[in-house]
Amino acid sequence: STQAEPLVLSRRSDSGKVQILTLNRPKALNALSTPLFDVLNVELEKADADPEVRAIVLTGGDKVFAAGADIKEMKDKTFSEAYSTNFLGSWAKLATIKKPIVGAVAGYALGGGCELALMTDILVASEKATFGQPEITLGIIPGGGGTQRLVKTIGKARAMDLTLTNRKITGKEAYDWGLAARLVPADQSVTEEAVKIAEGIAGFGALAAQAGKEAVNAAGELPLSEGLRFERRLFQALFATADQKEGMAAFAEKRKPTWKHE
Ligand code: CAA
Repeated sequence: STQAEPLVLSRRSDSGKVQILTLNRPKALNALSTPLFDVLNVELEKADADPEVRAIVLTGGDKVFAAGADIKEMKDKTFSEAYSTNFLGSWAKLATIKKPIVGAVAGYALGGGCELALMTDILVASEKATFGQPEITLGIIPGGGGTQRLVKTIGKARAMDLTLTNRKITGKEAYDWGLAARLVPADQSVTEEAVKIAEGIAGFGALAAQAGKEAVNAAGELPLSEGLRFERRLFQALFATADQKEGMAAFAEKRKPTWKHE
């Protein structure tokens, strides 16, 4: 068929609670073009707005998560084009999604692919994953948040190493460095593992999950005293929810809670 395949495949898990988004530009190694990001943003917003969806999985292929921003799209771009269209500005949408996003990386996560992985909330890496920021080989620097998020995630020394030397690291190193939260053996599916994690989150109250994500993310933005105040206010606010009453009543009555997500 000549029908174009969608740039991002979107499907629901069996439980109906997890939206699974798969980067789908295999011939270009999932290069993150502007059209691909536009589709991804629409799917993310749909999932975030759908009350049935409790968590999102973002995955790529078995051999490649994403080989970076689309070099062919960027190659002839002028400064004025990049600046006037706020090129890569659309990547910021992902960071505004309220529901937890579990990333799953097998194979290459390079340049923008590594930066996209860094934007997910819980990252699952395969032992056979390869992370890196090869932008310097192209005469540029990371533009999807890499220099900032890497420093916050793995520290300045390692962020400099990746940014300035084109060093590539394995999934195991990414896990040891704290970039990935979970490590999956090479012969196992990172997507399946990510869906399992997302289903686990989906089994809890949606408000607590959203608040937990919001509070952890605030740590990256706020000084400690403000972050602690923000956390405590959010913690106190959850006492206004039915789920707090239900969760604690269920504990006291030695039964499983039935979440209302309100
Ligand atoms: N953009 C556009 N096309 C890409 C691409 C990219 N980032 N990465 C791979 N492709 C294309 C290749 O051009 C090739 O297309 P053709 O078949 O039309 O020639 C196809 O995907 C297959 O790629 P290779 O033949 O190169 O595959 P390989 O297995 O030999 O090598 C690789 C794999 C090491 C990942 C190699 O493709 C590579 O180095 N890719 C570029 C990685 C990179 O530099 N990423 C950073 C981009 S800049 C960026 O991301 C900026 C930012 O901060 C947001």
